[in-house]
Amino acid sequence: MNSDGWLADTCTSYDTVAVSYADQMRDALGGAPYLRAALALFADAVADAGGGPVADMGCGPGHVTAHLHGLGVEAFGIDVSPGMVGVAGREHPELRFEVGSMTDLDLADESLAGALAFWSLVHVPDEVVPVVLSGFGRVLRPGAPLLIGFHVGEGSKLKTEGYGGHPMKVHVHRRRPAQLSTWLRGAGFTVEAEMLLEPEGSAPGAILFARRRA
Ligand SMILES: C[S@@+](CC[C@H](N)C(=O)[O-])C[C@H]1O[C@@H](n2cnc3c(N)ncnc32)[C@H](O)[C@@H]1O
Repeated sequence: MNSDGWLADTCTSYDTVAVSYADQMRDALGGAPYLRAALALFADAVADAGGGPVADMGCGPGHVTAHLHGLGVEAFGIDVSPGMVGVAGREHPELRFEVGSMTDLDLADESLAGALAFWSLVHVPDEVVPVVLSGFGRVLRPGAPLLIGFHVGEGSKLKTEGYGGHPMKVHVHRRRPAQLSTWLRGAGFTVEAEMLLEPEGSAPGAILFARRRA
């Protein structure tokens, strides 16, 4: 796939901020009861569907991967940034983390019991999202759950620094849940639930609970 530089820019940006991002996020779930509740529901859905390997797509420093592992999920992480994968491996040496892009997954068909993409699809341009979602559909077993977290809104912004003033060059795409649901249905998923996070705040988010159609 021709990624037109956005993927390379995303990779370089997260390599640059990997250590400071990890410092900021290490304990973030402790203060995020709704995220923890969503992850608990997801862990239950994976177990109810029979269990097995679950990929954290765009795992960053691996704190969500580790939380899922603590809930009994056979979770591993994939991230396009080798810097992030290095940090994740140091922080959670008991878990598996791989360098890879969700635009081109190196996973066998129907090999996953579940997948999660927390605020990582936000960097994928609109025209590539259906490709990524159909890739998730290919690697997930029929009936397997998929959890997607994202920024809610419209339009995109170019983030030029972050996580302590480090230089970045990464586009952040905000989306309406209805738009993402349409893409999910088109890629062979059923959307089962939607959770809005801080809908009245300055940076609203959402989590969609989807399932690969059998
Ligand atoms: C905002 S961070 C989110 C990290 C983590 N999921 C979390 O919830 O804190 C976005 C992550 O997605 C990764 N990422 C962006 N595009 C990706 C792609 N195409 N494939 C794999 N990882 C990607 C970035 O490298 C970065 O680690």
